[in-house]
Amino acid sequence: MCGIVGYLGKKQAVPVLLDGLTKLEYRGYDSAGLAVVNAIGKIEIIKAHGKLTELKKKVKSCGKTIKGLCGIGHTRWATHGVPNENNAHPHANDDGSVVAVHNGIIENYSELKEKLIKRGYTFYSETDTEVATKLVDYYYRKYGEPLRAISEFAFRVRGSYALAVLFGDYPNEIYAIRKDCPMVVGLAGGECFLASDVPALLKYTRDVYYVDNLQITRLKQGKAEFFNLDREMLSLPLTHIDWDLKAAEKDGFEHYMLKEIHEQPAAVKNTLNCYLKNGKIDFSEVKLSDETVKSTGSVIICGCGSAYHAGVVMQYVMEDLCRIPVRVELASEFRYRNPVVAGNELFVAISQSGETADTIAALREAKRLGIKTLAVVNVYGSTIARESDFVFYTKAGPEISVATTKAYSAQLIAGYLLALKYGVVRGTLTDENYRALLNELCALPDKISEILKEQSAVQQFASETVNRENVFFIGRGIDYAAGIEGSLKLKEISYIHSEAYAAGELKHGTISLIESETLVIGVLTQDKLAEKTAGNLEEVKSRDASIAVIAAEGVKIPESCGKAVVIPCTDGHFTASLSVIPLQLYAYYLSVLRGNDVDKPRNLAKSVTVE
Ligand code: G6P
Repeated sequence: MCGIVGYLGKKQAVPVLLDGLTKLEYRGYDSAGLAVVNAIGKIEIIKAHGKLTELKKKVKSCGKTIKGLCGIGHTRWATHGVPNENNAHPHANDDGSVVAVHNGIIENYSELKEKLIKRGYTFYSETDTEVATKLVDYYYRKYGEPLRAISEFAFRVRGSYALAVLFGDYPNEIYAIRKDCPMVVGLAGGECFLASDVPALLKYTRDVYYVDNLQITRLKQGKAEFFNLDREMLSLPLTHIDWDLKAAEKDGFEHYMLKEIHEQPAAVKNTLNCYLKNGKIDFSEVKLSDETVKSTGSVIICGCGSAYHAGVVMQYVMEDLCRIPVRVELASEFRYRNPVVAGNELFVAISQSGETADTIAALREAKRLGIKTLAVVNVYGSTIARESDFVFYTKAGPEISVATTKAYSAQLIAGYLLALKYGVVRGTLTDENYRALLNELCALPDKISEILKEQSAVQQFASETVNRENVFFIGRGIDYAAGIEGSLKLKEISYIHSEAYAAGELKHGTISLIESETLVIGVLTQDKLAEKTAGNLEEVKSRDASIAVIAAEGVKIPESCGKAVVIPCTDGHFTASLSVIPLQLYAYYLSVLRGNDVDKPRNLAKSVTVE
């Protein structure tokens, strides 16, 4: 949600800023803007409602019209105030000498606004960012020093922010601060870069600083300096990013989503390789010790969207293999329902971005309750990773498409490895079972590739069903867990109404929605349960719904079940890794056929940094 970029160097800033904003488009936005210190030392602002193309049209000829080597840019996903040009960032003080862009939400902005009004400030927009900018301006005027102004801002403000500020009096410097919103800084050959996420910097550098909460950044003369709120200088470690620009580009695919679907064999393999050493699971990087595994009383998993769905799979797998109670909860609910804990739980926060506000809040609640916390995250150095006791990094690489695919697949692997680790350490798995299951896991990447080779069958099915307005997914156990993910994918990018139901539950009310135009897709990968789900498919068929099936090789399905996509067989605990692939492809092709913006679906953001 919202993207920030900053540039200070030898090039014209506008093209660099526009390029960076393009790389952050995936985060979701509805307006954009930039500010550059021009050739005569004044800060010029250009903003536009809508996509970046609108902003590009305004700056004309790729930005060469505003000359200046220092600037900040922003893509805005509206929270306070409708998406229009007036509310778009950057925002400025009255004489345009203090200009800022901001991600996140200033919670006490109305209180601060009132105070500023009493001191003579007026406001032109509905945004909390204008308040933030004028608060910085107020303290700058009072203390005459940018670092002091920014630290005073941080002392007064409640909420989350990544804030980048230009001061007209310091035309060759950029100041920034963050709290609970991401910010990375990169340096390359005397140039300084600032961004909300690494893809915006990759073209220029792969060595970055991850700025921590409440650290102030000053970019100046090719250097990055960091300070705490007492304005004492800090030394931050430099982190080398091990993926290159190609990883964050489309690489010949029509959409990022299709590319990322095809990257799943690699995402799964890389995640496995990272945590398997000499044929055994090695969690030394995760820092989760055998003692902690042994002393865990139960497991609580939290996440949002697809991450929550990965948690649902994990619950089935862990309970079955480890005989330990596991509960999975929506992060947005966990925080507010005053959960009861014994103190010996392991809390698992799953998140691709590591920045989802609801998941962060749930994690903090778990920490407040005194339980140990494990992060399963894809983005290095993200808030959830930094605040958890243990971190399992999924190795999916950068995921750009809003609808997650490869990160979800890598999260499943995290869940399986955790289950196997708990099983073997706690003695619910024999060595033989453990080895057999590890072998099955290692075979998953090839099986996913096999399914991907058959993508044209799914494409064909999508074209036959493109006009359906209601699609149900049913299944039992892990098949139900895969169905809820398939249904979310469909909703997110095709905008088709869809529900996923535990197959046995459908008849308890919801079956009344089934009519002749309804499509019901059954997921049948579990031998023991397939017959039952097939029975439920018969029930909807006799109420005129069309039915289709995703079935694992070897699972018996009645002929009357209609069109079947057959996926390779694997151990029953891991089938979601395979059944989800045709479901992702189905959502993808329907989205393409319906002419939607596949990678940037309406109303959605990749990383939801507000509650
Ligand atoms: C957003 C996205 C979902 C995603 C969820 C959790 O709502 O639209 O696709 O699953 O956030 O994101 P996270 O980064 O925490 O995995």
